[in-house]
Amino acid sequence: MHAKFLQTAILSALVVTCAGHWAPRPTPAPSHPSSDFINYTTVTGFFLQDESSTDPGTFDYTATNFGLINRTYPTDNECDKSFTQWQKFEHYVDTLNQRSGRNVDYKVLFMGRHGEGYHNVAETYYGTPAWNCYWSLLDGNGTIVWADAHLTPNGIAQAQIAAAFWASRITLQKIPLPQSYYTSPLSRCLATANITFSTLPLPRSQPFIPTVKELFREGISGHTCDRRSNKTYIHNSFPSYKIEPGFSEQDLLWRAGVGEVNTDEDIRSKTVLDEVFGSDDNTWISVTSHSGEIASILRVLGHQAFGLNTGAVIPVLVKAVTIAGTPVATATLPWTTISTCSTVPPLPTVT
Ligand SMILES: *[C@@H]1O[C@H](CO)[C@@H](O)[C@H](O)[C@H]1NC(C)=O
Ligand SMILES: *[C@@H]1O[C@H](CO)[C@@H](O)[C@H](O)[C@H]1NC(C)=O
Ligand SMILES: *[C@@H]1O[C@H](CO)[C@@H](O)[C@H](O)[C@H]1NC(C)=O
Ligand SMILES: *[C@@H]1O[C@H](CO)[C@@H](O)[C@H](O)[C@H]1NC(C)=O
Ligand SMILES: *[C@@H]1O[C@H](CO)[C@@H](O)[C@H](O)[C@H]1NC(C)=O
Repeated sequence: MHAKFLQTAILSALVVTCAGHWAPRPTPAPSHPSSDFINYTTVTGFFLQDESSTDPGTFDYTATNFGLINRTYPTDNECDKSFTQWQKFEHYVDTLNQRSGRNVDYKVLFMGRHGEGYHNVAETYYGTPAWNCYWSLLDGNGTIVWADAHLTPNGIAQAQIAAAFWASRITLQKIPLPQSYYTSPLSRCLATANITFSTLPLPRSQPFIPTVKELFREGISGHTCDRRSNKTYIHNSFPSYKIEPGFSEQDLLWRAGVGEVNTDEDIRSKTVLDEVFGSDDNTWISVTSHSGEIASILRVLGHQAFGLNTGAVIPVLVKAVTIAGTPVATATLPWTTISTCSTVPPLPTVT
């Protein structure tokens, strides 16, 4: 929370020049994550995806301004008449941060699911039962490879739709652009983030340099599509990306034959959110990840379940309150054993 302190200190310094009173600088809190507990909540009422009446199955983020609800905010009277909905929302969120205590932090996470990968196509082709018990455990079928699956042409097109939609929001809405970018280390996300953001007219102060973070990866299912490539390969494929410190050369988390359970995935989702919130001063954050992992993050944020189609994006206004003291740790559970098929399952019959 050191970062938040600095922000508050700068703001109090600004207050001094305006209001003419000076509070002594408090000593920064030691930034030992283990001595702080961050409690996350989703602030609802701002996005359609927060409303129980919205159907995730038919929801189209590109038809709804990313889901931003047309409404007023208490800070609208400080905004120019020409402000768009996104500009008014930006001012509101920035004001929330300025007026909140130093233990309270608001961020808007734009979480994007990767475009369609070869594993998605194969699961549809073979059917989920045969995929789970047999095909998902192989690297591919001789025609296509789905180990650390790449994007299909359709998946590339979905990421291009996201890119075009961001471009339209910049022009029409002057949307607040991400100030930081994070991505899962799996190839389909590395490529989706690149296609979505690399061609946008970004301000020089906010370049697209994503940080690859191990724990934004998909649920570690034991399927080869969820086993990542090595660090050298990631670096060589996307040389402009930053790879977080401590990222291992080989994938040390994936294990054949067993799958991470939701409880454990939620523990690591909380860990990766704590890393981001504990070290990143920025408010507007892009995360490129996966359906299962975004579902887990939404659980940690107390957001309603909201399934994303391949290539879709969900924004969430997050309130993070740092509470001193060690939290009660959630116990991890053993991973589940994958049940395998002893013979090659037949293709699904056409009905
Ligand atoms: C986190 O915040 C929510 C909402 O304010 C509250 O209900 C919950 O008790 C808090 N959890 C902890 C561990 O403080
Ligand atoms: C908000 O209003 C605009 C203009 O009236 C409209 O085009 C848009 O669809 C509305 N968005 C939502 C999410 O209702
Ligand atoms: C491999 O899977 C793809 C679909 O994922 C399918 O189109 C192709 O025919 C399969 N190849 C073989 C050899 O079965
Ligand atoms: C990133 O995306 C752009 C635009 O689609 C493309 O031209 C470029 O080759 C991609 N870079 C990598 C490293 O894949
Ligand atoms: C990394 O992965 C690439 C591509 O699969 C492979 O050619 C290379 O030998 C690997 N390097 C290491 C150090 O594992």
